[in-house]
Amino acid sequence: MIAVNNITRTYGAHKAVDNVSFAVEKGENVVFLGTSGSGKTTLLKMINRLIEPDSGEIRIEGRLVTEQRPEQLRRGIGYVFQNNGLFPHYTIEENIGIVPRLLGWERDRIAQRVTTLMEKLRLSPAQYRGAYPNELSGGQQQRVGIARALAADPPILLMDEPFGALDPITRARVKKDFKELDELRSKTIILVTHDIPEAFELADRIFLMDGGRIIQEGSADDLFDRPATQYVKDFFEGQRYIFDHFKNNKS
Ligand SMILES: Nc1ncnc2c1ncn2[C@@H]1O[C@H](COP(=O)(O)OP(=O)(O)O)[C@@H](O)[C@H]1O
Ligand SMILES: [Mg+2]
Repeated sequence: MIAVNNITRTYGAHKAVDNVSFAVEKGENVVFLGTSGSGKTTLLKMINRLIEPDSGEIRIEGRLVTEQRPEQLRRGIGYVFQNNGLFPHYTIEENIGIVPRLLGWERDRIAQRVTTLMEKLRLSPAQYRGAYPNELSGGQQQRVGIARALAADPPILLMDEPFGALDPITRARVKKDFKELDELRSKTIILVTHDIPEAFELADRIFLMDGGRIIQEGSADDLFDRPATQYVKDFFEGQRYIFDHFKNNKS
């Protein structure tokens, strides 16, 4: 479904993403895990052409993304920004309705869709649809960011640390409601995070990144029990309890 071949993106002499290749199957949920600065955001933004690679190619359903107009491409790809990226001068309803408006949906249909998504993400439509992002808490803003990405029901969802900036309790709540969304069924999801428990919890497959490269790819078991390098071993050091916790809760 998504095939990335040898993409590189440099800033000056620095390779933010360094010759990365991978493929994601339809309906798969993959997590790119890595420390801050490992190239996660740059990688994710190249998939929907918010950033262009210096070299390499990306195909979605066999079609090169560079042969599609960015606006057209992004209609099929929901994107949840790191730090939510809401438009401050748009109301919550306007923020969530951005892509449906671009697609020319009727007003009533947009309003209906906004109501549905707000309810599913536990944001009272009556209270918040006319509010502005700065009137909401961080957790509520992230909920809006997720609703906005899902609004036009795109087959692909790209998520950049969607729960990253939240306190642990709020994070757990937002994540729980997110995981229960029926919208997610059959979506192809690429999520990037620095959070090891989050990767164990959400990923069918994990890609561990460092210095702009994929260091190891596999299931949580693969990475945890069969680390390919000392870096991978060190990365997961001390995480046994968390690993066992999610392993027991997944099966
Ligand atoms: N616009 C930019 N200009 C210069 N350097 C950048 C830019 N964007 C990212 N970088 C650098 O590229 C590397 C990867 O950044 P990023 O993809 O944001 O990492 P992550 O999301 O994993 O924290 C970092 O070293 C960062 O400083
Ligand atoms: Mg980032």
